[in-house]
Amino acid sequence: MAVRRLDPNQPASFAFTTENLAWAEAIIARYPAGRQASAVIPLLWRAQEQHGGWLPEPAIRCVGDMLGMAYIRVYEIATFYTMFQLSPVGRKAHVQVCGTTPCMLRGSEGIVEVCRRRIHPEAHHLADDGDFSWEEVECLGSCANAPMVQIGKDTYEDLTPDLFEKVLDGFARGEPPRPGSQTGRRASCPEGGPTTLKSLMKAGD
Ligand code: FES
Repeated sequence: MAVRRLDPNQPASFAFTTENLAWAEAIIARYPAGRQASAVIPLLWRAQEQHGGWLPEPAIRCVGDMLGMAYIRVYEIATFYTMFQLSPVGRKAHVQVCGTTPCMLRGSEGIVEVCRRRIHPEAHHLADDGDFSWEEVECLGSCANAPMVQIGKDTYEDLTPDLFEKVLDGFARGEPPRPGSQTGRRASCPEGGPTTLKSLMKAGD
C-alpha cells in the first residue's frame, strides 16, 4: 500500500452544502452527548462525495470542528482507511483493486495490468483525460468472489481481465454495470448453481 499523505494542492476552504449540513447534523444527533466523534466516518464520507471523490485538508478540519475533535484525530482516520481518497481521483471512476492473497491467487495481477494499460502505468495517477484513476488496496471483504474491485460504494466481483474491461467500458459510457458478480452467479453461491441440499430446494430458490 502506498504512503497516504495529503495532496500538496489543496483548496482554500471547505464547507458542507446546506443540504449536506442538515444531513450531517441529523447524523450527529443520533449519538449521545459527548459521543459526537462517532459520526466522523459518515461525515468524512459525505465530505468526500461532495468534493468530487476526494477529501481535501480543509474538509478534515471542518469535520473536526463540527465534532469537537482535534484535527490530528480526524487526520489519523482519513489517512488510515483506504475508503478515503487524499488526492483527486478520476471523474468517472476511481478503481480500488484488491491485491490481497485470495484475490491475488485468483488473478488480481491481471486486473492491475488492465489498470496500468487503460488508466495509468502507476497507481494514484489520473488518466490523461482525467476520467479514471486506480490503486491497489488490501482485502475488501469479497474474497469468496475474488478477484474483485471496488468503485465508489459498489464492488464488482468474479472478474477476469475481459470482464473488468467491460466494467470500465460501462463507466466510460456513463452506464455503470450492475454491481456484484460479473459472471452472473448470485452473491457467492456455487458457480453453476447449488451443489448440496438440492432435494430441499423449491423451484425458484
Ligand atoms: S482478498 Fe480480495 S476481497 Fe478479500
